[in-house]
Amino acid sequence: MLAFIKERRSHFLREFNGKKASDSIIQEMLEASIWAPSHRLTLPFRYEVFPPNQLGYLSSAIESSYRKKGVDVDPLKIEKIQSFSDKLSHVIAIIFKPSGKVPEWEEYASLGAAVQNMYLQLSSHEKYGGYWTTGNEINSVIMREFLQLEDSEVHCGYFFIGGIDNKRTKAARPAVDVNWR
Ligand SMILES: Cc1cc2nc3c(=O)[nH]c(=O)nc-3n(C[C@H](O)[C@H](O)[C@H](O)COP(=O)(O)O)c2cc1C
Repeated sequence: MLAFIKERRSHFLREFNGKKASDSIIQEMLEASIWAPSHRLTLPFRYEVFPPNQLGYLSSAIESSYRKKGVDVDPLKIEKIQSFSDKLSHVIAIIFKPSGKVPEWEEYASLGAAVQNMYLQLSSHEKYGGYWTTGNEINSVIMREFLQLEDSEVHCGYFFIGGIDNKRTKAARPAVDVNWR
């Protein structure tokens, strides 16, 4: 189990080969997420899933949000956003849905555990990888409207999933910060 956890990696857009995953691979990730620890079982998250044929709509929304931001438009950034439908397979928009029944930090912690479960489930597939991104205009006014968020909900990024040729497993971490008593 420890080896499996250590070999989980983030695989990024530049590594995606355009191959499309079956919806069942995504369904397993979503199911894994529900088994995260959750105080009082509030399960304070929900998802909007974009399969391959919806990626164009998603990237157009992200592009228009970026263009309306009022910063100098970076053509490379636009090119990257426009490449989503070719490069990605599926996108899971991760939405925090607080219950108000337990402290907010506990519910964010539960959301993090849910996403880790998704990561681990995806890691069991040799030919697909992905990563959690909190870039790409998350939670902007346009994206909140596009995702039809309630006022209390927070857009906590996306899980980008794509086909990969090389599953990387190696990485480094510092020693754990712990004081045994
Ligand atoms: C909350 C959160 C947000 C992240 N957002 C981004 C992001 O916007 N862009 C990105 O390249 N990676 C993002 N990552 C992925 C990290 O870059 C990645 O987890 C880190 O480099 C460690 O690599 P590993 O996941 O392969 O162990 C995010 C990770 C977390 C936990």
